[in-house]
Parts: sequence; C-alpha cells; structure tokens
Amino acid sequence: MCYAIPAQLVEIRKRMGIVDYFGERRTILLDDTPVKVGDYVYAQGGVLVRTLPPEEACSILATWKELFFQLKKTDEILSSLKTKELPGNVLGVLQRINLRKTLSPSELKALFSLKTPQELAVLYEVANHVRQREHGNASCVHGILEFSNYCRQNCHYCGIRRDHAIPRYRLSPEEIIAIARQAVEEWNFKAIVLQSGEDCYYDEERLVHIVREVRRCGVLVFVSLGSREKSVYERLYEAGARAALIRFETANEKLFAQLRPGDSLERRVELIEEVKKMGYVLATGFILGLPGETVDDVVNAILLTKRLDPDMYSFGPLIPSDGTPLADASRTNIDEVYKTIAITRLAAATSNILITTAMETLDEGSSRQGLLAGGNSMMVNLTPQRFKKLYAIYDGRSGVEENIADSIQRLTTMLCSLGRSPADIGTHSRVTGQSPSSSCSSDDNEGDWQGNEGATL
Ligand code: 5AD
Ligand code: SF4
Repeated sequence: MCYAIPAQLVEIRKRMGIVDYFGERRTILLDDTPVKVGDYVYAQGGVLVRTLPPEEACSILATWKELFFQLKKTDEILSSLKTKELPGNVLGVLQRINLRKTLSPSELKALFSLKTPQELAVLYEVANHVRQREHGNASCVHGILEFSNYCRQNCHYCGIRRDHAIPRYRLSPEEIIAIARQAVEEWNFKAIVLQSGEDCYYDEERLVHIVREVRRCGVLVFVSLGSREKSVYERLYEAGARAALIRFETANEKLFAQLRPGDSLERRVELIEEVKKMGYVLATGFILGLPGETVDDVVNAILLTKRLDPDMYSFGPLIPSDGTPLADASRTNIDEVYKTIAITRLAAATSNILITTAMETLDEGSSRQGLLAGGNSMMVNLTPQRFKKLYAIYDGRSGVEENIADSIQRLTTMLCSLGRSPADIGTHSRVTGQSPSSSCSSDDNEGDWQGNEGATL
C-alpha cells in the first residue's frame, strides 16, 4: 500500500519544481534535496520528501496506473452535479462560487441557515463538486503519532489537561524514531504528524534530535506541539520539520480566554502567523460546538482560518470529556459538522480539509459523508496500541481498539469506494495547461480525465 504516487520532476525554478504524475502537474518546494530534471520524487503537502530510483518509480507507477484512472472516473461520477432544482436562496451564492468570487460573511452565514434534507444535499453536492474541480481525486493520508499525553495547559475542553488525574505516558526519542521508521518502511507513509500535549520534557535538544532522525527516514515531518516557544519552532524547522498543526481553537476572544486559562487568542494567532512566516506548511482550525458559540463565531472561525492562509484546515466537533469542566456540554449535531466542512470548501475552494477523528467519534461512519461534503484529508493513528487509549483528549475516541493494518485497510477501502487516490503532491498548487510526460507511462488515458479541468457548476 502506498500513500503517495511518485512524480517526475519536469522543471526546476530556483527552489521550486514542477512535477508530473499521470499528466497532472503540481508545483512543489524542492527544499534542500539535490535533484535534477527527470528525477522521480515523492512530495507531500507541496514539499519534496525524497527521491526514488527510476526503476522503482516506474514499477510503482505501472501498478498504480490502471487503478488511478479508474478511481478518477468514480470520483468524477460521484462529484458531478445531479441536482436540477436548487433552492432559490442558495442559487445566487452558488453562482458566485461558480464564478470563483469570494463569499461575504453574510453569504456564509446564509448557507448555515440551510436545514432541510434537500437543501443540505445540494450544499454537500456542490461542495464535493468544488473539491473535485480544485483537487481532482487527490487526497492526503498522513500518519499521526501521539508521543506524550503530558500537558502544561489546562484547556477546559481537553481530557489530558494538566489538572485531570489520568495515567500519563511519554515515548522516548528512540521509540518515536523507531515507530516513524516503521511507518515509512513498513506502511509507506510519506508524512508523519508528531503530536503531544505541551510537554516541556521534550526540550529543544530532544525535539531537534527526534525531528532530524525522523526526517532522515524520508518523510515529511509535521509537528503538533501546541504553544511552544517561537525558538522551538525555528530550531525544528532547521532540523527538517516542514509542517505544523496549531489550531487557534475558537475565533471568539472571550471564549478563548475562558477556555484556555492564561492564554489569549491574540497570542495564539501571533504564534500561528510566526510559524507560517518561518516557512512551515500550516494546518490550523478550531473546535466546533463550544458552549456559547454562535453561528457568527463559526463564520468568523472559517474566515480567521482563511486569513491565516493554511495549507490544511483542521476543525472538529467538541466531544465533551468526563472529568473536564465541559463534561456536561451538549454534543454537536453531525449535520452541523458536514455543513461546516461544505461551507469551508465553498469559502476556501483550494484548501485541504481534514476529516477528524472527533467527527468519526461523534458519529461512527461519518468520515465518508465528510469526504462527500468537501473533505479531502485523513489521518491514520500510529500510536502504539497500549498508549492510544491514554491520549484521551476526549472520551470514546474512534479507532483506539483498531490496529494500524486494520485502520489502513478501512481507510483505503473507503477512499477507493469514493474514487479518491492518496496522491498528495501539493494539491494547492495545481499547474494548468499540463500535458502528460512521465517517461515511464504511456499516455493512452490522457483524454479520460483532462476534459474535466475547468468543469463548471
Ligand atoms: N473535543 C474535541 N476536540 C478536542 N481537542 C481537545 N479536546 C477536545 C475535545 N474534548 C482538540 C483541540 C486540540 C487538539 C489536539 O484536540 O482542538 O488543538
Ligand atoms: Fe494541552 Fe492541547 Fe489539551 Fe490544551 S488542548 S490541554 S494544550 S493537549
């Protein structure tokens, strides 16, 4: 199994390169990897991860080729617009989306008022269509390793907050590196998220060592460490980390101050902006359904995410967690989560939108509908079985009993059934006007999908 399709480098422009896979072209950051035109590479999140020998690339491309075009066709069928009659109040907004106009806050708010099954079906259908128009059938699948559940923060919503008396664990740097190596060599992951609570046991030196060694495995290193000092992020970038996941949690300043004692939204956003400026591929977002949240807050959260210009949107529903101040909060309705995914897709057409474990925990099986409402990214949990349960940011986390092989099997079966291919080659920077050129693939399939470029609503 493979979570990225090898691509061939067809052009180099300073630190950027253009790659081609089955005729699809994308711009990627070459970073400091020495490469020349004609090389085969793996890229993730728009960053070159590593090169691979031509024979190996051609053999992988040969096994992928037939499936790739089959998947593309399935996705095109599933994402074509079938609705003939659109409700009057959505029509104007959808026409603006078709013209690639920016939607105003009040237009986004109006979309949140859609309620009937018929209206929601149209909303999801259009969002899925826009996802397909911008990304083709590419979806990213990253691995995530939760290496410590210690945290110095006391967020009211979180089950691993400092004051919650739960069993704690830490993986040693060598364990982390060994798991990452296995994920790359045995499971073929091309991007690994290293996540923990804000745990200062992992000081700069330890983190630098971990990042450097994991990067040496030939994988995109994605860090998710919370509000660590700016210098930590700087040193980790130097050590080879290229992506960071930091949510701002809520765009409502008062709620933020209430729920994350001792911190402010302003400071959190400043950190996210700094991290982005350092050159990290950014994933950010919020929790949906915090007590006291209004529709305006959700619209503002989408707009704040957009302003931060992330490569990936990461938001999920609040799952009230026992033993936390929000234990008795009400659960979000799953339709509100689908709606938020769909409206985000319409607000930020080219974004990658993550389908979160929290959503699957809220409603088992919902990932599939999330992908059909505009989502296009997934994660597989690589945390060792005995620790997964202990990373209890909320209760009853989906998938904690499942082993990696079964998670991969379930996820890839679902992605395949939707016609998605795990081809995250910098999907936000699609190059238009491409022509197939992979030297080890024949071009007899090109017409099958190219006509779909520029499909309209
Ligand atoms: N429900 C949903 N998401 C949560 N997070 C923390 N606690 C919860 C909860 N109870 C999210 C936060 C954090 C991420 C690691 O987990 O958004 O950034
Ligand atoms: Fe710590 Fe993150 Fe949980 Fe807050 S949300 S308590 S920072 S792990």
